[in-house]
Amino acid sequence: MAILVTGGAGYIGSHTVVELLNQDHEVVIVDDFSNAHPTVLDRIKELSGKDFSFYELNLLDKEGLEKVFEENEIEAVIHFAGFKAVGESVEKPLKYYHNNITGTLVLLEVMKAFNVKKIVFSSSATVYGMDNKAPFTEDMPTSATNPYGQTKVFIEHILSDLVVSDEEWSVILLRYFNPIGAHESGRIGEDPNDVPNNLMPYITQVAVGKLEQLSIFGDDYETHDGTGVRDYIHVLDLAQGHLSALDYALKHSGVEAVNLGTGEGYSVLDVVHAFENANDVEIPYEIVDRRPGDIAVGYADATKAKELLGWEAVHSLEDMCRTSWNWQKNNPNGYEE
Ligand code: WQD
Repeated sequence: MAILVTGGAGYIGSHTVVELLNQDHEVVIVDDFSNAHPTVLDRIKELSGKDFSFYELNLLDKEGLEKVFEENEIEAVIHFAGFKAVGESVEKPLKYYHNNITGTLVLLEVMKAFNVKKIVFSSSATVYGMDNKAPFTEDMPTSATNPYGQTKVFIEHILSDLVVSDEEWSVILLRYFNPIGAHESGRIGEDPNDVPNNLMPYITQVAVGKLEQLSIFGDDYETHDGTGVRDYIHVLDLAQGHLSALDYALKHSGVEAVNLGTGEGYSVLDVVHAFENANDVEIPYEIVDRRPGDIAVGYADATKAKELLGWEAVHSLEDMCRTSWNWQKNNPNGYEE
């Protein structure tokens, strides 16, 4: 029985696939390389010493997806595939709604047709919106301020309604906080397509000389140093969280939303200083205006993940900074040779 990983060539997907293979799961990856590089597949084989099946396709290709289910005995799905750039989603909402939501609907229809009713969904802390007060708990109301976030909110509702309609479904909605870091080997890591939107890949590209300086979006928030506070979580912890969620989904039915965070908030300047200290590099920065849509403070109440899944984050901010830099230093142009 295989685990189907949609978007398995991406940043979080690839780290999760390596852990799945390390735990002797049979893996099938589906990815269209819209935000991933074919080289990742070779790196996954190198790191795990294991092989897996791969299909290059977008989830909107229903016939192609049916072929995947015909050719493989799928036990469960870990669903990462989706566009994730907040700013782009505001400029191109239809692209995001079609790719992320219609793609998920096609996946669920094919799963249902093949009687595969166990799914771990890559959601996001962004669903806590602007009105909740940290630490965020899973029972809080969800909302979004941009189409990317809306797709996460909508897909959570779709999956929850599916469970109400058919109690055989087992759904885990994993709400990631801020994933950073890389595999200890430095052979896989975060490789944004264009200029990074997110903090850590921007910092590492400044450190490696691809970008001149970091722009810090506002230092007038009500936080200890005025800069935004987030719950950064090591991608290796995130990968393990998916394996714990998969184990739970395979043994239960129903729907559970679960935070994957450390429960600890760090500011932008905390991260910059931690990165400089961990790697003995200097990160030049300037303070600029706030970024529209940013919240001041966001971090997890991580209790439920511990109680329900027996999972908790174990890597430190120093680990996250060290491994992020090790990846970027050894791969200055990401996966482009
Ligand atoms: C973190 C902090 C910024 C860049 C978003 C999505 C979330 C997930 C992760 C997809 C904030 C500050 C950032 C920069 C900065 N998306 N910052 N200069 O916004 O918390 O979460 O990305 O996977 O769903 O909502 O992450 O890394 O963009 O920002 O000052 O160049 O760093 O203001 O305080 P965010 P981020």
